[in-house]
Amino acid sequence: MSFAADLELLIRARYPLIYLLTGEELRAQEIVAAIASHRQTKLYEWTCTGGLVMSGTSVQSRQRNPATKDPMVALEQVLEQIEPAIFLFKDFHPFLVKGQHAIIRKLRDIALNLKNSHKTLLFLSPILELPVELEKDTSVLSLPLPVRAELDALLDRILDDVASLKQIDVQLDSIGRDRLLDAALGLTLGEAENVFARIFVKHSRLSGDLVSEIFAEKQQLIRKNGLLEYFGAGETFEDLGGLRSLKHWLLQRACAFTAEAREYGLPAPKGVLLLGVQGCGKSLCAKSVSGAWQLPLLRFDVGRMFGSFVGSSEENVRRAIAVAEGVAPAILWIDEIDKAFSGSHGGGASNGGTAARVFGTLLTWLAEKDSPVFVVATANDIGHLPPELLRKGRFDEIFFVDLPTEPERLEILAVHLRRRGRVAETFDLPQLAHVTEGFSGAELEQAVISAMFDAFAARNALDTDHILSAVAATVPLARTMHEQITHLRDWATGRARLA
Ligand SMILES: Nc1ncnc2c1ncn2[C@@H]1O[C@H](COP(=O)(O)OP(=O)(O)OP(=O)(O)O)[C@@H](O)[C@H]1O
Ligand SMILES: [Mg+2]
Repeated sequence: MSFAADLELLIRARYPLIYLLTGEELRAQEIVAAIASHRQTKLYEWTCTGGLVMSGTSVQSRQRNPATKDPMVALEQVLEQIEPAIFLFKDFHPFLVKGQHAIIRKLRDIALNLKNSHKTLLFLSPILELPVELEKDTSVLSLPLPVRAELDALLDRILDDVASLKQIDVQLDSIGRDRLLDAALGLTLGEAENVFARIFVKHSRLSGDLVSEIFAEKQQLIRKNGLLEYFGAGETFEDLGGLRSLKHWLLQRACAFTAEAREYGLPAPKGVLLLGVQGCGKSLCAKSVSGAWQLPLLRFDVGRMFGSFVGSSEENVRRAIAVAEGVAPAILWIDEIDKAFSGSHGGGASNGGTAARVFGTLLTWLAEKDSPVFVVATANDIGHLPPELLRKGRFDEIFFVDLPTEPERLEILAVHLRRRGRVAETFDLPQLAHVTEGFSGAELEQAVISAMFDAFAARNALDTDHILSAVAATVPLARTMHEQITHLRDWATGRARLA
């Protein structure tokens, strides 16, 4: 069912308080206005700058009552209103925070009163701020980003507008149009309108080959969102030593997002969870999937989700997801997902509830998504991971990335020697792999680097002995963290597939 139909149903069913979560105020307002007119109900709008005004009437005849800028006065008017009406309160969220006892209490009174009336109070805001006291009485709806048909209508309207301007050369066949609309998915109506306007100004024409302009707009969006980051990863599976079965699994799914695979009847893969010991190549693997599949890599910054900088609003996470879906097919890399949960438990009273709820948004999406966004999540602390994340259906597979075995260490050493311009075969790799029992990939890389420093300082060519002494000087993490690693291994046995 469409958003508008959902909303109208709630209004008809006399839900007293409805919270509309969206950054697209204008679009939401138009939807509400259409419902009001359809139901022949009066519509009032409230803002902290204009107070409560009847909407739709001409500007001059709007009866302004400056006193209603005060939220308490405005809410009192809602109570006093006798006729059926919809009250649209814009950006009311600052008044729904802790400490606003009087307003929150007033809203509870209103909720009770409105249940038996034909009045509805709507909050319209880009941020969800809902005190516990109001949770039961408030239904939260979030406005999804425009679907293709809406963008299509927008493009029609824009083309109508520019038709009179002779300067703009529109050459749009149905293929070109499809390309533009596909690219614009994931933008709000306002953003799509802006990007089309920019194309006209810059190119004085419109055709399918200008999709790159829309992608540029999306990159901009990704930057603004703050939770996502475009990762221009150059890594491929060549850079990843060992992890045979994981690589094999991923390679098998390399063409999973093609039209051919869809026709064959294959479901789009959802994602993998890589669980394991530090420094063994989980993050590296996420980066190389993007290289191997030739898909853009978006990194989701879990740490930021709880930072005060971006704000842990659902809207932000929803937006991040929507943007990723808009860029799709793409890889969404959620690095160190366990941090999110340590945040949601141990984060203190300040953000405990919100953080868990915000992350819930992401979990629900993981379970339900059918868009071609492949999620690669990594974690090394299972203690923090909630069971619902590990349940079947969230990820296609959970891989356990253990410390490399002897043959894997050989491969990893060879990767790092080659990466630094050395011929791997001139080193005694079997011996090196043998003496590095317990080393992680990162530690093997460090051993190679520090051996290079030694050799360089002595003005010698790098040889096996340099690496051997670097190895001797290293105490691998596996020894100091033996217990944690054993614990992780025990846990993974039977629950995860060995990478
Ligand atoms: N299997 C591997 N093959 C090649 N290089 C590796 C491998 N594992 C680790 N490395 C090297 O170690 C570095 C660190 O690895 P990476 O960041 O992927 O570890 P991680 O598993 O994500 O660790 P953490 O849990 O600490 O995030 C990599 O950039 C890479 O150079
Ligand atoms: Mg990592």
